[in-house]
Amino acid sequence: MNNLSVNHLTGIRDLTREDIELIFKTADSFKEVINRPIKKVPSLRDITIANLFFENSTRTRLSFELAEKRLSADVVNFSASSSSVKKGETLIDTVNNILSMKVDMVVMRHPNPGAAKFLSERVNARVVNAGDGTHEHPTQALLDAFSIREKLGSVEGKKVVIVGDILHSRVALSNIYCLQKLGAEVMVCGPTTLIPKYIHELGVLVEHNLRKALEWCDVANMLRIQLERQDIKFFPSLREYSMQFGLTKEILDSLSKKIIVMHPGPINRGVEITSDVADSDQSIILDQVENGVAVRMAVIYLLASKIGR
Ligand code: CP
Repeated sequence: MNNLSVNHLTGIRDLTREDIELIFKTADSFKEVINRPIKKVPSLRDITIANLFFENSTRTRLSFELAEKRLSADVVNFSASSSSVKKGETLIDTVNNILSMKVDMVVMRHPNPGAAKFLSERVNARVVNAGDGTHEHPTQALLDAFSIREKLGSVEGKKVVIVGDILHSRVALSNIYCLQKLGAEVMVCGPTTLIPKYIHELGVLVEHNLRKALEWCDVANMLRIQLERQDIKFFPSLREYSMQFGLTKEILDSLSKKIIVMHPGPINRGVEITSDVADSDQSIILDQVENGVAVRMAVIYLLASKIGR
């Protein structure tokens, strides 16, 4: 197979295992490209991509922009905080105005779950979800699984625990879908208040004891507590959260095997993970960031190949 089964990437839920494997195979080639002295290929010289960010981002935004430029696409960037959205313009009006300028693909981060899907059903352009509220963050899950595959040889049969704020995390949901499609076993770990009630329907294991979860896994993906999405208190204090669910070097070194530590960023050092763990040789956090560019190049390239030109 050399074509995706979807025309947009709005969520991992819509992808088949074959889609994910095609993205990884394509990303393998692009990873080789971005490590050459000349890190650019002319593949998308005739494509224009708009990056629409209605919510803050560092990694995802820079990573998409680099991926697009490495493919030689023309790129325009839009930030809601400095746009006419502030004057009351709707999402569809904003996007249609941008598309009138002959844009072929839209990469969008938005605070509302379902925003990317909504857009993909209403505009004549390819849409890539760069994170929609608490729903999905598909390219993060793809780069996470790609990084596990790179480090451990495959994702099939591996045990991955996702620790922390599962309730508010689009990274957690996309990771669960992606890892399961690739044959991994998934566990979530965190305080009861931060584990959604529907979690068992997703076929994941639940553990509230961090040490037990870490003894079980091959890979621990440590999530940030999303205080910006919490208008009520889900745990007594950050200090208490950190004492129960924070990953320290002492815990890591006391485990019976060497596990891999991941984090999607941004890190709250000293809350969900200490600095000596984040910077240890078991951490692949910066590999995740590097792989993000190659994986996003693959997604954009494969979706662009479906544009009728
Ligand atoms: N991992 C991630 O989505 O980071 P940003 O919010 O900085 O893009």
